[in-house]
Amino acid sequence: MQGPTDLDITRRDLLAIGAVSMASSAVPLVAKGQETAAQSPVMSKVSFKVNGKPQALRLDTRTTLLDALRDHLQLTGTKKGCDHGQCGACTVMVAGRRINSCLTLAVMHEGDSITTIEGLGTPQNLHSMQAAFVKHDGYQCGYCTPGQICSAVAVLGEIKAGIPSHVSADLTAHPQLTAMELRERMSGNICRCGAYSNIVDAITEVAGRSE
Ligand code: FES
Ligand code: FES
Repeated sequence: MQGPTDLDITRRDLLAIGAVSMASSAVPLVAKGQETAAQSPVMSKVSFKVNGKPQALRLDTRTTLLDALRDHLQLTGTKKGCDHGQCGACTVMVAGRRINSCLTLAVMHEGDSITTIEGLGTPQNLHSMQAAFVKHDGYQCGYCTPGQICSAVAVLGEIKAGIPSHVSADLTAHPQLTAMELRERMSGNICRCGAYSNIVDAITEVAGRSE
């Protein structure tokens, strides 16, 4: 009959054998798959306008619009926060509509007109929304700010076009520019510094000016 020590050794031996056999069967498959993906990315050409300037790129088809802007066009004003469509830091406008650039592939935007924060204004000539964010302290660390401003500009376009939101009481009436409407429409843009009240003040001021 085996003693406790013999049983321990047997269990350890079995575990070791199992681990080795799993590793020997799994590792080559994973490594082979990774090698294939790394060695042969599918490349494609894509042409679009960014901030009014024509751009032609040849990209791995898996490249997101966010990475194309930041890594291939050096437009680093657009920020990568979550890279999962949850924070809004990467918001840009495509044909006037806001999108999360981390959730869309660059090659899907053939012929599109894309506007990033760099296309809205310059340090010497700020867009009215940028100036309002500065005036109302609509930021602290500033990481979310490019996305907030692109989103805010698009929000005013949505309200002007009469597009209702989830908090619009009457879907057939022109949306009112209330704080609740603005907070709902800007809810996809997270600010870890909590500058929300000042952001609403900034948007409200620009909306008042443009009406
Ligand atoms: Fe795109 Fe967060 S980086 S939503
Ligand atoms: Fe810091 Fe918004 S200003 S995250």
